Formats: sequence, structure tokens, C-alpha cells
Amino acid sequence: MSDNHIQFLLNDRLVTLNDIDPNTNVLGYLRNHANKSGTKEGCASGDCGACTVVVAEYIGGELTYKSLNACITLLPSLHGKQLITAEDLQDGDKLHPVQQAMVDFHGSQCGFCTPGFIMSLFALHKNFPDPSKHQTLEALAGNLCRCTGYRAIMDAAAAAKNHGPDQFDRNKAQTIATLSEIQSLAMTKLSSDGQEAYSPTSLGELSQLMLDNPKARLLAGGTDIVLEITQMMKQLGTIVYVGNVPELQQFDEDGDKFTLGAALPYTQFTPSIAAHYPEFGDMIERIGSLQVRNQGTLGGNVGNASPIGDTPPVLIALDARLNLRKGDDVRNIATEDYFVDYKVTSQQDSEFIQSIEIPKPSANQQLKVYKISKRFDDDISAVLAAFNFTIENDTVTAARIAFGGMAGVPARAKACEAALIGQPWTQATVDSAMAALAGDYTPMSDVRATKEYRMTVAQNLLQKAFIEMTQPQVNTGVVQYA
Ligand SMILES: Cc1cc2nc3c(=O)[nH]c(=O)nc-3n(C[C@H](O)[C@H](O)[C@H](O)COP(=O)(O)OP(=O)(O)OC[C@H]3O[C@@H](n4cnc5c(N)ncnc54)[C@H](O)[C@@H]3O)c2cc1C
Ligand code: FES
Ligand code: FES
Repeated sequence: MSDNHIQFLLNDRLVTLNDIDPNTNVLGYLRNHANKSGTKEGCASGDCGACTVVVAEYIGGELTYKSLNACITLLPSLHGKQLITAEDLQDGDKLHPVQQAMVDFHGSQCGFCTPGFIMSLFALHKNFPDPSKHQTLEALAGNLCRCTGYRAIMDAAAAAKNHGPDQFDRNKAQTIATLSEIQSLAMTKLSSDGQEAYSPTSLGELSQLMLDNPKARLLAGGTDIVLEITQMMKQLGTIVYVGNVPELQQFDEDGDKFTLGAALPYTQFTPSIAAHYPEFGDMIERIGSLQVRNQGTLGGNVGNASPIGDTPPVLIALDARLNLRKGDDVRNIATEDYFVDYKVTSQQDSEFIQSIEIPKPSANQQLKVYKISKRFDDDISAVLAAFNFTIENDTVTAARIAFGGMAGVPARAKACEAALIGQPWTQATVDSAMAALAGDYTPMSDVRATKEYRMTVAQNLLQKAFIEMTQPQVNTGVVQYA
């Protein structure tokens, strides 16, 4: 049984929606249905941040505030949450402190980007009352401004620190009570004109829905799949939203591995992974923007099966495994066996990724991860390299190497691995492994890089890893935030 509506708070007003196309994004809903035009459309693809809104979720006994791009967030995913927009920040006739700071420090000129910046700053100060420069840069890296310049906006961010309680703090108990009540409702369904979206609330419901709808489109954060709607004008047909299934939101650490629920957003698991694999954590911080990482998931990154997705090469190098579920059956496969051909996977009809198992690091193991893109922040990789070495007594005893951007699928560099394993960890070994790498891939030229560039950079990244591991005092040009 399912309820044929979704419910969420629009600021402090409870909204119930039923007869609305589930392919509607939150931006379209706000502007065309809710008569709120403060949230702007710039790119409609998650790149500019003009449409940034904040969603408050009641998780683990706390209200968590997340900035999201409304253009790539589908309406069904709002169920049980509070949606806050720039119009909602003013308290009576008083501007919110982050709005007042933007006025005082001249953070706005044409104003088109301003609501998005305001919402990113609002979420930043809700999560970090006295944010560091790193936290501020991270919060704003997904908001583009063509006229003001970022200095004024950074000054406004600093001025708004420790601004004290606002109306959201005053209303907290009521907000939590309402969200808890909505969340306890059964599975929801939103449908209109032959388009339908289900939001199951347990693994059993999700499994049964996928058996009943073998070709349904799984929706997690939506940061890939919603582009089919906004950029290709498609409709998704039957949608199954996985974000309300608790079993897909778990993070377990047991024995020698971590098990990550497929629908856990990046920002919720990155610190735990970074504690064991710092380079993996640093790389995840470069996936899209904070808005994208607040929504995007590991299951979505793998399920999207893009050859330039950033996490699959790392998962392959770490020998991570996927738990694929169909009904009551679960099969555990190596991540590399999921990717069959360009955008073709071994996932069957009715099947979905339930979780991802990542082995914990062992002694003498070292992971090196490099993302090559034209911009440091918020850009897609031309090449992604992941090297997982075990060096014992100056000999390479194990090497798993995988690249993205070098083939139609994320793939291992097996000839390169073979040239390293059992050999002394020396420049001569690295030279022959770099030569062997040329036989592993036949890269393509596209808008991001030529095939020659891709091969050269891939070989040089192995050299870079060797230098960093053997001569840590040498600066190989690793970019760090201030
Ligand atoms: C502005 C922008 C910047 C981006 N930058 C990067 C980047 O730097 N690096 C990068 O790798 N990606 C990037 N992406 C792509 C995207 O954010 C990631 O791939 C993200 O991890 C997708 O996760 P999601 O939860 O949003 O997936 P969704 O969009 O919800 O789903 C993606 C695909 O996976 C499938 N899927 C979802 N969940 C499951 C599941 N449990 N089992 C099986 N299939 C499933 C869906 O059906 C769909 O086909 C960017 C996207 C945007 C919009
Ligand atoms: S409109 Fe540009 S990120 Fe949404
Ligand atoms: S103020 Fe004009 S785009 Fe930012």
C-alpha cells in the first residue's frame, strides 16, 4: 500500500502534492507552481548554483541543513523534508544576518546569482557558526558570479559568523515534530499522466517494487539522471526513489571492510573514508560542488556507469565489491565486473546496488589518487588515476591500478601492474611500467583532452606517484586549499 501524495514543509507551511508530474524538478515547482521566483535558473544542469535552495532533514535526532541545486532535484525526493528558499529567510521586516551581510559588504551587483549565494551562506552558517576559510570556499565553490567578484562575498561570509539564533532555531521543535510525523508515513507514490514515482521506505518494499517494475529508473541524488529531463527533455517513466530506504543509507565498519549503503550521499560518508584513505577523501571533495556532493551518492556514480565517473577507478583499485540485490537474492561481485561496455553494465532487470564493500587498508599499502581536470573545483575528469601499491622491503608485492577516461569503461591497467609486481621499487621498474601502460589502453580524443594527452598524463601520473612515495620532499605540484 502506498500514499498517493508527498508531503514536505515549504519553510513553515505543510504542503501536500498529488496530481503533479513526478519529473518536475524543485526549481520548476517553486517558480511555476508555488509562485516563488526568487530561486533562479542559470544552467539547469547543476553547474552554476543560481538555483541553490536549502533542505533541512531530520537525521539521527538532528536537523541537518544541506544546500542543493533545485534544478537537478526531483520533487518526489522532498517528501519528509523542509524546503527553504531565499524568500523564507527574512524574519518579519528584518533581513536574515547572511542577507544583511551581503548588503553591507556589497556582495551583489546584477543580483542573478545572489539568492543562490545567500542560500549557500545560510547552510554554511547553520552547520558552522564560525566557518574556516576552507569551509567557506567549499560552500561557495558551486556558486558562480559573473560580476561581483568573490572578495565581497567572502567578506560577507566572514561578517555573518556567530550570528545567533534565527527563526529556524526558534521553530526547531515544531519543525522536527512535523517532519517526524511525515517521515513515519508509508511508501509514497506521485503520479500524473502516466508518469509515476514511488518512494519505498524499506528494503523489502524497494525489492518488490523493482520485481514489479523491472525497467523502473532508480533515482538516488538525481545529479546524473535529472539531466536527462533538463538537458534532453526526456521523461523518466516509472521512477523508484531510493533515498528513503534506511538499509541503503547505512555505513558499517566491521572487521576488515566498510560497507556503504548505495544511497548514502557523499558528504555523509567522506570523513569516515578519508580517515583511512585520505587521498580518496581529497578526491571526493572535488566531485562537483558541495551542492552536488550533498545529493550525489556512490551507488549513483557506479550505477551511472560513465567512463569518467570519479569513484569507479578508485573502487576497482581498492578491490571493492558490490552487493547487487534482486528480490531476496544478493550477489556479491567485483566492481570491475559491473562495467561491461560503454554505459553497459552487468546489472539485470529488477536488480539494484544495495551496498558497496571497501576493504580497509593493510600494512604497507598505499593509495594514490589523481584527478586531472581543466578546473580544480566543480569539473569533470579528463583522466582519473588510482594506484594501490603494497611495497615490502623495497619490492612491489601487490599493485592494482585503474584509470577513468582512458577507455569506454573504468578499467584496470593489467600490463602496467604485471610490470611492477615482484620488481624492485625503483625508477627502472617505473620506466618499464610506464612503457607497459601504453599497451593497456587506446584512449579517445574529445572535448576534455586528446588521446595523446591522456596517454602521456596517465604515464606521468605513475612517475608522479613514484616520486611522491620515494622523495616526499619534492613538490610535484599538488594543489591544496589555503
Ligand atoms: C554539476 C555536476 C558536477 C559533477 N561532477 C562530477 C565529478 O566531478 N565527478 C563525478 O564522478 N561525477 C560528477 N557528477 C556526476 C554525479 O554527481 C555523480 O555521478 C553522482 O555520484 C551521481 O549520484 P546520484 O545519487 O546523484 O545518482 P542519480 O542521478 O540518482 O543516478 C545515476 C544513475 O545511477 C542509477 N542508480 C542510482 N542508484 C542506484 C542503485 N542503488 N543501484 C543501481 N543503479 C542506481 C540511476 O538509475 C542512474 O542511472 C557531476 C554532476 C553534476 C550535475
Ligand atoms: S540552474 Fe545552474 S545549478 Fe541549477
Ligand atoms: S551579481 Fe551578477 S552574477 Fe553575481
